[in-house]
Amino acid sequence: MDLEQLAALRTPEGSAALDAADRVAGGDPLAAAMALRAAGVPAGLAATALTQAELRRRAVGKFGPTAATMFFTRAGLEQATRAVVARRRAHRLRAAGVATLADLGCGLGADALAAAREGIRVYGVEADPLTAVLAEANARAAGLAELFTVECGDATAFDVTRVAAVFCDPARRRAGTGRRIFDPNSYSPPWDFVTGLVERMPYTVVKVAPGIDHALIPSGAEAEWVSVDGDLVEATLWAGPLAETPRRATVVKEGPPVNASGSKGAPCYHPAGGESVHQLTGSGALEASVGPVRRFLYDPDPAVVRAHLVAELAIELDASLADPTIAYLYADQATSTPYARCLEVTDVLPFSLKRLRALLRERRVGRVEILKRGSALEPERLRRDLRLAGDQSASLVLTRVAGAPTVLVCRPTA
Ligand SMILES: C[S@@+](CC[C@H](N)C(=O)[O-])C[C@H]1O[C@@H](n2cnc3c(N)ncnc32)[C@H](O)[C@@H]1O
Repeated sequence: MDLEQLAALRTPEGSAALDAADRVAGGDPLAAAMALRAAGVPAGLAATALTQAELRRRAVGKFGPTAATMFFTRAGLEQATRAVVARRRAHRLRAAGVATLADLGCGLGADALAAAREGIRVYGVEADPLTAVLAEANARAAGLAELFTVECGDATAFDVTRVAAVFCDPARRRAGTGRRIFDPNSYSPPWDFVTGLVERMPYTVVKVAPGIDHALIPSGAEAEWVSVDGDLVEATLWAGPLAETPRRATVVKEGPPVNASGSKGAPCYHPAGGESVHQLTGSGALEASVGPVRRFLYDPDPAVVRAHLVAELAIELDASLADPTIAYLYADQATSTPYARCLEVTDVLPFSLKRLRALLRERRVGRVEILKRGSALEPERLRRDLRLAGDQSASLVLTRVAGAPTVLVCRPTA
């Protein structure tokens, strides 16, 4: 979409085309285009409206029913923070007393809108002219145009003395190709600007890739890793007075999904406020003790692993590692925890395809899930090579125990 196409979408004719596109999106694209053409919508406007309707459908998972009133670009939607995470971050900023915020590189405004909903006055800066106009449109659609304003420009030139706090979520994809950027020096705005912000502004919050190297975390800042339903979604750096602990793992479990319109095939979303949130904190510098494989294996949530809080979790579970370099924990008791999945270990074998195949045959195991840490084996290849047959199922854990390649045969705990 370009600015001209967006302007056409925002006319009464465009708005009617969008309504018509919403009704037919999600099915056969050719049939949808023909339906709009048959309703008298010009071809160009029909194509723009259908793309927008398709993006809105896709956005429901991140934004819930509000997606139906928002404007998206493909790249903007991919980079947007999901509502549950943005809401929690905004809430924490408000609770810290932040009343004015600059969102430096605000994209379509997912974070800025969440902050505005908390009553924070947000000044968004966005370099891409189309994205800036869409962010403004999203503010208006949400009834938040007075609290969230957008200027199109370079965030590095924004006068941060105008605000109490800054938030920056640098672009980690190349404009044009959309390819992921792994080197923080190639982020936009660049990493040295981001770290400079932390030095200049006491209240600075930065969203970063969850794979961030711990060595890049500014000293004194809190680094928080967030997972949603087991998927690691991002890391956030909280600087100055906002830092409460060196490392935090936030594990969000969203409530049961709801069908957006109640009709068959409609996208699903998790209602706001239905989530449960669990937080593990610590220094990130502790080392867990090492011992033998024990009866129960815990596979920690990726947020716990990335936050280097496995040792803190081991203390909570009275557990130990079986290899100092591998983040599986073992304990004598099965303890219910939101921070890890627990399996009961039934067999421990030095890795041998022949022995494993024989054991699974004997147990009539026909279905396996394969977990791995510290193993170079390819799960799908192993599954084929096992030539499984039978009506039983098992979990196989490919790992190392005291350095030796090992397979653990496991079953779920009650
Ligand atoms: C990751 S996205 C932000 C997404 C946003 N937090 C959200 O959840 O919707 C980063 C945005 O920063 C913008 N950007 C990159 N460099 C910039 C700069 N120097 N000044 C202003 N905006 C910039 C990009 O165009 C992109 O829209």
